[in-house]
Amino acid sequence: MSGIVDGPEVSALLGELTTMVGRADPYPRYARLREISPVVRADDGALVVTRYADCSTVARDGRFVHMPPDVLAVLGFPDWADRPSLRMMFTSMLIRNPPDHTRLRRLVSGAFTARRVAELRPAIGRLVDELLDGLDGEVDLVAALAFPLPVNVIGELLGVPAPDRAQFQPLVRDWTRILEVLTPEAVDQADAAAAVIRTYLEDLIATRRRRPGADLLSALIAVEEAGDQLSGEELLTTAALLFAAGFETTTNLLANSVVALLEHPGELARLRAEPELAQPAVEELLRFDSPVQLLARVAADPVEVGGVVVGEGERIVAYLGAANRDPDRFPEPDRLWLERPDNAPVSFGGGIHYCLGAPLARLEAQVALPALVRRFPALALAGAPQRRDSLSIKGLTRLPVSLR
Ligand code: HEM
Repeated sequence: MSGIVDGPEVSALLGELTTMVGRADPYPRYARLREISPVVRADDGALVVTRYADCSTVARDGRFVHMPPDVLAVLGFPDWADRPSLRMMFTSMLIRNPPDHTRLRRLVSGAFTARRVAELRPAIGRLVDELLDGLDGEVDLVAALAFPLPVNVIGELLGVPAPDRAQFQPLVRDWTRILEVLTPEAVDQADAAAAVIRTYLEDLIATRRRRPGADLLSALIAVEEAGDQLSGEELLTTAALLFAAGFETTTNLLANSVVALLEHPGELARLRAEPELAQPAVEELLRFDSPVQLLARVAADPVEVGGVVVGEGERIVAYLGAANRDPDRFPEPDRLWLERPDNAPVSFGGGIHYCLGAPLARLEAQVALPALVRRFPALALAGAPQRRDSLSIKGLTRLPVSLR
């Protein structure tokens, strides 16, 4: 069947994706949605696409843009500019359109190029070794590795002092929930977290203003002070976005990857024996269980996608996690195959918003995963992993493993 399909089965499948069970294993639901039609309509009116080609189009085609923040008024938040969570998210580069997006991204892109990031390899290697050195017996791998590695790497780059970093794990989790759930309760909870993040960063910016360091935050403060490239508010939202994006998703890449490897002992053994597989392995792990499962956009002009015309002003959601399992793009999509040829998952999005931190996230995983599995040959699950209740960011809050 083709065309835009809605109805009870589509509603039920999309509804399941909002439950813990559906979020734990969304892949059969995605497959069924893809079979029903390339483009379906959700109960709230948004279109949903699940094929690789269509999700790529949504990410890359410049006619798909982000909602301007004043649409938040229509969605029940006329006071969005006074709500810390909404303001800090919806005025950040992640959700801005050109030309502001172009200006903001250019200010920081130099710090995240593949070449600059490659220089961090030795420091990341040392940090991984230090974290693994301290481990024995049974541990929660989220607390022991998946969170501390990326938070310390981005904290170091940005200039967030080491003792202050850990508190941001729950705060960022609560804040970023509004990417998925815009109910008054979710926004209230996100506001409380965002207000703490905001106050912390305001203080840190004041400190660095007085005593600049060699960090990215000090560099951004200098840009703000130089004139018309960056406002004080944008300095704050850029710092908040970089810090949050720098650990939140990478934590989940590491945790999801360990679970996937433990569920595929043959592939785990290959990675252990051949650490040079790290690069293709990380691409396949990104594909297999992507930490970011969806993108949302609105059509600024009519665009053809999946055989239908998406009208101006229509909202569309691209399920990246579904695209990554599209059998038309990836043969045997449900199989974890570390050496999968021609592997190009859409886990980092595409187009002008293509993940700024992709080289950094890849490097951290390429260093950490082989090191972990080689150091602990008996690595095994020691209890049920605890999932976070989210699909836009798919990951774990706890991953109990035994090491010996
Ligand atoms: C496995 C880890 C990561 C995944 C899966 C991921 C995924 C993504 C995706 C899908 C987008 C595009 C969102 C959209 O188009 O709406 C994005 C954007 C972004 N990511 Fe990542 N990310 C990861 C790690 C990082 C890291 C380590 C940083 C550190 C700086 C980072 C910073 C950003 C920023 C700043 C944007 C916004 C870029 C823009 O709007 O131009 N990400 N990320």
